[in-house]
Amino acid sequence: MIRIGVLVSGSGSNLQSIMDACDRGDIDGEVAVVISNVAGAYALKRAENNSIPTKIFLHQEYPDRQSFDSRIAQTLEEYKVDLVALAGFMRVLTPEFLDRFPHRVINIHPALLPAFPGLGVRQKAIDHGVRFSGCTVHFVDSGVDTGPIIIQAVVPVYPDDTEEELKDRIIALEHQIYPRAIQLFAQGALEIAGRKVFVRNLVKDASLCLVNPPLDS
Ligand code: GRF
Repeated sequence: MIRIGVLVSGSGSNLQSIMDACDRGDIDGEVAVVISNVAGAYALKRAENNSIPTKIFLHQEYPDRQSFDSRIAQTLEEYKVDLVALAGFMRVLTPEFLDRFPHRVINIHPALLPAFPGLGVRQKAIDHGVRFSGCTVHFVDSGVDTGPIIIQAVVPVYPDDTEEELKDRIIALEHQIYPRAIQLFAQGALEIAGRKVFVRNLVKDASLCLVNPPLDS
């Protein structure tokens, strides 16, 4: 059983999917603490509904990023977390923070990295005219959305999509791949080698293929 610390800033639908997966036994672990930098984040309510301890640290109240991150790291250590999962946490973590949790911080991003890192990426994908986008769970390094990739899921993008439509399509998959990535971590099935993450006993399907628009249209 691993202990998971989840960092949030917003609605917490990914947090919900992680808590639900723990409850179902799809993750061999439990959410030990939820930390937010936004006092009214709905994610905090979700945690409370699941009887999970919550902490709020307002970044505005800290003189610099190091002291803010250090306070969060201290709390995560107090709760003895094995894994730190960022779930809509809208702050970039310092290298000093990451050094305290080597290869133990993961994030979910609503695009197919390395395409479209950063913010506002669903609209950027639509505006670029890509045929596919999706979501990515990756280990966090000191860059923005640059760390080694654990799992990705792909959805079609249509030129007349609204951001909301694409968001709905992507987030449904986020809620599946984030718990899956965490369970792979919990099983000790992930091995990082440089930029690559090897998954133990990976089932390969070299025929996997998506085409949009379809070949027969
Ligand atoms: C998700 O789209 C996730 O990919 C991104 O932030 C959003 C968080 O949504 N990192 P929620 O708070 O989990 O509902």
